[in-house]
Amino acid sequence: MSKITIAIDGYSSCGKSTLAKALAAHLGYAYLDSGSMYRCVTLYALRKGLIKDGSFIKEEIIKILPEINLRFEFNPHTKASDTFLNEENVEKEIRMMNVSDNVSKISTIHEVRVKMVALQRELGKNKGIVSDGRDIGSKVFPDAELKIFMTADTDIRTQRRYDELSSKGQHVSYNEIKANLLSRDYDDTHRKENPLVQAKDAIVLDNSDLTREQQLEFILRLIKDLTLPVQ
Ligand code: DC
Repeated sequence: MSKITIAIDGYSSCGKSTLAKALAAHLGYAYLDSGSMYRCVTLYALRKGLIKDGSFIKEEIIKILPEINLRFEFNPHTKASDTFLNEENVEKEIRMMNVSDNVSKISTIHEVRVKMVALQRELGKNKGIVSDGRDIGSKVFPDAELKIFMTADTDIRTQRRYDELSSKGQHVSYNEIKANLLSRDYDDTHRKENPLVQAKDAIVLDNSDLTREQQLEFILRLIKDLTLPVQ
């Protein structure tokens, strides 16, 4: 079977990247975490002191975009890609709460989206890629052969995120995480440009009660169906 493009979109912390990574490893495909790119822009802006108490001047963010160079590198220990911002491995730092608290707002800036979408398309031009985000099936790769729209119960998502952060030694309260998820969901679905929407041809996957193995099986079945000869 020739290589395809798989787009996984959905709400914050519903396990998109876990599933996308497992799927990419299973298929021998590349994995593209589009959210990490928006997180890098946010981290860079925070470090430059351009975001103060959640506020920023759009023009100042646009001005620093040419200074931002992003790339991904496979890490054999974690068996996943690490994100490099100007040659610095920022994989851990971009997952911190100060970045999560500001990334949805930064990702509403038109010029930021233009730069990220162009880079994502470049990275996916040869297919054989699993990418997750908010606008992958609707905007970045509208011709993706398989599009998944993921969702899960808010409390289940909060608990998963809480467990993930705790395991990394980041102690953030359950309520703070839930508030962050809800506000990102709101921002991501209400922004003017490329909001999170279910693409017309996307298949919904509610993973509230599914194990990782069951989710992977679900997708692999869909891929198998794609290859059925046309009757
Ligand atoms: O997937 P994530 O939680 O790491 O994404 C962080 C933020 O980046 C998310 O709240 C919105 C933004 N984002 C986006 O606007 N478009 C994407 N394709 C991916 C992420």
